[in-house]
Amino acid sequence: MSRVSENLAVLGLQWGDEGKGKLVDLLAPKYRHVVRFQGGNNAGHTVVVDGQTIALHQVPSGALHPECFLVVGSGVVLNLDVFQVELSRLRERGVNVTDRLLISDKAHIILPHHIALDVWREERATKVGSKIGTTGRGIGPAYEMKAARMGVRMGDLRHPGVLAERIRPGYDEVRLRLGEGAEMPSVEATVENLLKAVEPLLHCIGNAQSRLLQACAKGEPILFEGAQATMLDIDHGTYPYVTSSNCSLGGLFTGTGLPPKALHRILGVAKAYTTRVGSGPMVSELLNPLGDRIREAGHEYGTTTGRPRRCGWFDAPITAHACRTNGVDGLAVMKLDVLDGLDEVGLVVAYRDGRGALTSELPSCAAEWADLKPEIKLFKGWSTPTRGITDHRQLPAEAQAFLDALAEVVETPLAFLSTGPDRTEGCVYPGTFLESLLG
Ligand code: IMP
Repeated sequence: MSRVSENLAVLGLQWGDEGKGKLVDLLAPKYRHVVRFQGGNNAGHTVVVDGQTIALHQVPSGALHPECFLVVGSGVVLNLDVFQVELSRLRERGVNVTDRLLISDKAHIILPHHIALDVWREERATKVGSKIGTTGRGIGPAYEMKAARMGVRMGDLRHPGVLAERIRPGYDEVRLRLGEGAEMPSVEATVENLLKAVEPLLHCIGNAQSRLLQACAKGEPILFEGAQATMLDIDHGTYPYVTSSNCSLGGLFTGTGLPPKALHRILGVAKAYTTRVGSGPMVSELLNPLGDRIREAGHEYGTTTGRPRRCGWFDAPITAHACRTNGVDGLAVMKLDVLDGLDEVGLVVAYRDGRGALTSELPSCAAEWADLKPEIKLFKGWSTPTRGITDHRQLPAEAQAFLDALAEVVETPLAFLSTGPDRTEGCVYPGTFLESLLG
């Protein structure tokens, strides 16, 4: 398959689970490198191999394309045990990636005491009604320890003699907080387990920044795969109900060490409705049978934790904010078919604040979100199913009217429309940059 010459980022525009994996899977054969740059095993995407579904959390989605070289950047936090399980599941199905995988030696490791702290903190917060609803995978504490300069990086695993010394300061702090009774493997046991888990991967650890800079110099195309999404971004999302990394565009540069000019195009991904897992504001949420219907039709249960996702209408203010934050060139709208058969389809075009005034501005404080109500524009539903449509000209007029309004209100052109889970179910909009890639 012919390659492209431009580097592309695929980024989520809502609260995650938009279907980025499907796009990365479709686009990967055109790229030499597929790169993860932030997040950890809080992310989850399913890939289908020989009719069997595998959930991947940390291995980049290009895994199934043997010609793709996979890079895990410095901005990622890795759970090595989970990574091993993913690799062995892939191997069982004949997919071996360790000869085409590079893990940044600067990527941080999620340690057992990070997970213990995450779970402990959420349990305490639940009692006072302030839990974030994290995935419980130790993501926040791993990033916290990184910022506190008590993290352990993949490169440290090349120096077994100093590992215990690197782990102990963070471990001791967590012990102090959780108390002596807390169940956590000792530093020695942690070291032993890490060394065992990393053994088959030692040859995959190296200078990912340098590899990617060389790829840029040689004109080898790179596909950057975002995890989570802008509304979960630690700076630009619904703080404090966010994850602990920069899931929006800035994280790509810090999480790889590449300069901004290394990136040429940005594809933003949003579902035709909105979902969110965990706590926090969600103005468009439908706490009624309609929300339940969307959840069932869209199979909206978490890939990582199995939790039911909160469902609501497409929220234009958050998606427009995400398009602006990331400088999105084209919009991929996913799962339109989930809305098939509804009498009416809603679009949250703006919010009404506590005084009844219309606004499209996103508040910066959780307390200010609480006052907002959705301003919903209702569109006539469509009775002809959109499932499986591959040419946008065949869409029912009502569905196209809804999509046109959606694109207008987020001020970003439609580039792709997904009409079903299968890789063949979707339309590429002509005249967009995706046409040369997927058309
Ligand atoms: P953490 O990333 O586990 O710390 O969780 C923080 C918040 O981000 C919680 O609301 C999670 O449900 C949410 N979150 C983290 N990863 C994902 C994801 O991949 N999809 C959707 N929500 C996520």
